[in-house]
Amino acid sequence: MNTEEELQRTIAQMVQPGKGILAADESLPTIGKRFAAVGVDNTEENRRGYRALMCGAPGIGEFLSGVILFEETLEQTTDDGTPLPVVLARQGVVPGVKVDKGKGPLPGAPGDRITYGLDGLAERLVRYREQGARFAKWREVYPVGERNPTPLGVEANAEMLARYAAVCQQEGFVPIVEPEVLIDGDHTLERCAEVSEAVLHAVFHALHRHRVTLEYLVLKPSMVIPGKEHPQKASPEQVAEATVRVLRRTVPAAVPGINFLSGGQGPEEATANLNAMNAAFPGRPWELSFSFARALQEPVMAAWAGRARNVDAAQRVFLHRLRMNGAARRGEYRPDLEARP
Ligand code: 13P
Repeated sequence: MNTEEELQRTIAQMVQPGKGILAADESLPTIGKRFAAVGVDNTEENRRGYRALMCGAPGIGEFLSGVILFEETLEQTTDDGTPLPVVLARQGVVPGVKVDKGKGPLPGAPGDRITYGLDGLAERLVRYREQGARFAKWREVYPVGERNPTPLGVEANAEMLARYAAVCQQEGFVPIVEPEVLIDGDHTLERCAEVSEAVLHAVFHALHRHRVTLEYLVLKPSMVIPGKEHPQKASPEQVAEATVRVLRRTVPAAVPGINFLSGGQGPEEATANLNAMNAAFPGRPWELSFSFARALQEPVMAAWAGRARNVDAAQRVFLHRLRMNGAARRGEYRPDLEARP
């Protein structure tokens, strides 16, 4: 298979009606924070056990087209010694890998951040392919404030995303391009929309500059919502309206799939918002789906709490959340479905 055929095959597997992506690619400090909240030690064995629980849950292939793994997880196995990427592939789920190496301040743009990890990326992808990964993920973040993101922050982060995406496609990996406008702060929905529009505009301009083929990428944006500290919550219909308006203005129809991050929304909130978009905009040019980490995992991790005897119960909770998001993918979710796990 040549590179083009490989990209075609992977994107067709990743963007399927009714399905979405699980982000299970938390870095060591981030998974440590999530584990601490449920009283679990951040050991390699606990990380393996927890991620094996999700990758090995029977039935996930009905709702998941892909799982984003952390580098370490590519080498981990189930209790019976099967590598986790193999466990996923057997269920028809494509394994992917987060390839960015964290972030730090962006000099010249006070308050903005920039992500690391481009050096040696092509070589790392060769290794990840041998371990079974077929797509990659890279995240840039944009804090919202009076002066942030700065024009420099918007440009520099777009450039990073485009350079990463170009390397991925050269190596036959479908890139997930993740520009996350952060939920922190007391900004309005309108301010989030304004920032999101500028960010996405710059990202697609940069992708064009770097000759990235739009047909072979997945966009992973944040939804357009008010800041976490804003006194007024938005309804799913308001979120759907504002988000799709921004996407229509900025994301070419050639992009096959848009898979949202959850970004600190509660599990049911993220599901309801995704549902509203699919229910209200049936004629949109792209598939609208999920690539949630917290909104899929929070209840699963709480049900597991680090104990082997809870694995079955935690897998049932996981399947329930997947079923709800599968319904939201079709615009058929209703909150009363939550009562029937
Ligand atoms: P959340 O859904 O928890 O925002 O995580 C998505 C993700 O992959 C962040 O990079």
